[in-house]
Amino acid sequence: MSKSSNLTIGVYTSGGDAPGMNAAIRAVVRSGIDRSYRVVGVLEGYRGMIDGQFKELTMNSMANIIQRGGTVLKTGRSPEFLRSDIRKRAATHLKQAGIDALVCIGGDGSFAGAHALAEDHKIPIIGIPATIDNDIFGTDATIGFDTAVNTALSAIDRIRDTAASHNRLFIVEVMGKASGFIATHVGLAGGAEGIFIPEIKTSIESVINHMNQGIQRGKRSSILVIAEGEKPGSAYDLADQLKTKAGVEAKVCILGHIQRGGSPTAIDRILASRLGAGAVEALANGKSNLMVGIQNEKLTHVPLADSVRGQKEIDKNLIDLSQILSK
Ligand code: F6P
Repeated sequence: MSKSSNLTIGVYTSGGDAPGMNAAIRAVVRSGIDRSYRVVGVLEGYRGMIDGQFKELTMNSMANIIQRGGTVLKTGRSPEFLRSDIRKRAATHLKQAGIDALVCIGGDGSFAGAHALAEDHKIPIIGIPATIDNDIFGTDATIGFDTAVNTALSAIDRIRDTAASHNRLFIVEVMGKASGFIATHVGLAGGAEGIFIPEIKTSIESVINHMNQGIQRGKRSSILVIAEGEKPGSAYDLADQLKTKAGVEAKVCILGHIQRGGSPTAIDRILASRLGAGAVEALANGKSNLMVGIQNEKLTHVPLADSVRGQKEIDKNLIDLSQILSK
């Protein structure tokens, strides 16, 4: 796409909501209007594109949303968008609405749809990484991760109070289907005695050993953090294994969707504001099929295809460190 002085940008949120999505929408709308572009909201993610649900967004319509969790555009998961006939229907609606470029705020599943749409229909699209899971290749951080970690952490701090008062072992399950970033960060920040994530196998025996060493020194309560993995409730499986292998009783607490809500932290609002403005700037400069990310505090551009295919690695040192510090 060549540099354009006259653009209508469609913006949408897709996949699981993440605190800070509203701040990103606001940044896209206000920085777009600042460049004299028109900005249109696509409602409910790809569903709204397929059905032709659009809404004109103005400076005023973005008032009072920077601090709100969720997404004012609503969101959804739309596996049907993997079908080319469905994407064609969406492209027709976009054309009818006069939308000539898109900003997709979401995770890697949403980016896969965006990439396919950009390839099939030559629509310029920029992705903004937003998911509490932080599992997007090519960016150090995703919008919503910091808030989710802090939400889970404040729950763990509360659980520690009751765990210590009753001399109990708790297993706290955090979100993350295929991704252990939340569990790793919350575990380290919350002083967990064990962290279980999908990417790195932790032996139950070594965690039992670790806890027993603490018990010998007089430690009477512990917290283990586990990422939900394939199905929410895997904390109960871990509790069963601890009972069978070591005769230990554990209380289970599943934090679930509480981690997706709430007011975004300053870190998430600032990230969202920078990425939103960065996405509009990328479109203004004629760029397409890219994700704007952040690496070493600098905005970067990564091909959407790479962000979808790449695998972001967990820093195992953080898990090792949490083991040393929770002795
Ligand atoms: O958005 C990411 C995420 O919260 C994952 O951590 C979790 O596994 C999944 O979404 C839950 O999705 P849903 O709300 O659609 O059940």
